[in-house]
Amino acid sequence: MKEHELQHMDEEIRECIACPLSDSRDGAVPGEGPEDARVVFIGEAPGRQEEKEGRPFVGRAGSILNELLSSIDLARDEVYITNVVKCRPPDNRDPTVEEIAECREYLDREIDRIAPAVIVTLGRFAMQAMFRRYGIEAGSIGEERGTIHRVERDGRTLTLIPVYHPAAAIYDPKKKDVLLEDFRTLRRILDEER
Ligand code: URA
Repeated sequence: MKEHELQHMDEEIRECIACPLSDSRDGAVPGEGPEDARVVFIGEAPGRQEEKEGRPFVGRAGSILNELLSSIDLARDEVYITNVVKCRPPDNRDPTVEEIAECREYLDREIDRIAPAVIVTLGRFAMQAMFRRYGIEAGSIGEERGTIHRVERDGRTLTLIPVYHPAAAIYDPKKKDVLLEDFRTLRRILDEER
C-alpha cells in the first residue's frame, strides 16, 4: 500500500498544471505500487487506456509487461510502476524535453521515497532519465539493454537495468525474446540479492 507521502503526491499529480499536457489530458496517471517495493519499473508516458483508468500500463503494453513479470514469477502488486511523464501526450507522440523536465520532480521524489534496490527502465526515455540522474553516459537503447549498472547511493547499492519498452514487442517478436532474456537477468539479480 502507498503511504502518506506518495498518496499526497498522487493528488498533486492529478491537479498538476506545470506543462501544456494538463490542457489536453483526460486525467493524470500517477505511479502505482507499494512504497517499500524492491523494484521500480519506469515507462515513458501513459496511453489512452492508462489515461482512461488513471493507472499505468493497463493497455496493450501493460499486457506484455504483465506477461514479462509472470515469466519470472514477479507479482505486479509487489513492484512499483510509473512513467517519466504522468500525462498522455496528444496522439501518443513522444514527450518533449520540456514536458520531461517539468515532470522530473515527481519521478525523483518517487525514487527517493521508495529507495528501491533495482530500477528497470522501459524504453529509451526512462533510460535517458535514469542515466542522467546517476551520471551514466547513455548509448543507444539497442546497445544498453540488458546491461547492469551498479550505483552507490547513500551507502546502498542500486542496480539499474535498461530494457526495451514492452510496446516494442507488439510488432517485433524478436524484441519480445530479448525482453524475456532481460527479465531473466532481473530475476537472477533479485535472487542473488536476497
Ligand atoms: N506505455 C508507457 O510508457 N507507459 C504506460 O503507462 C503505458 C504505456
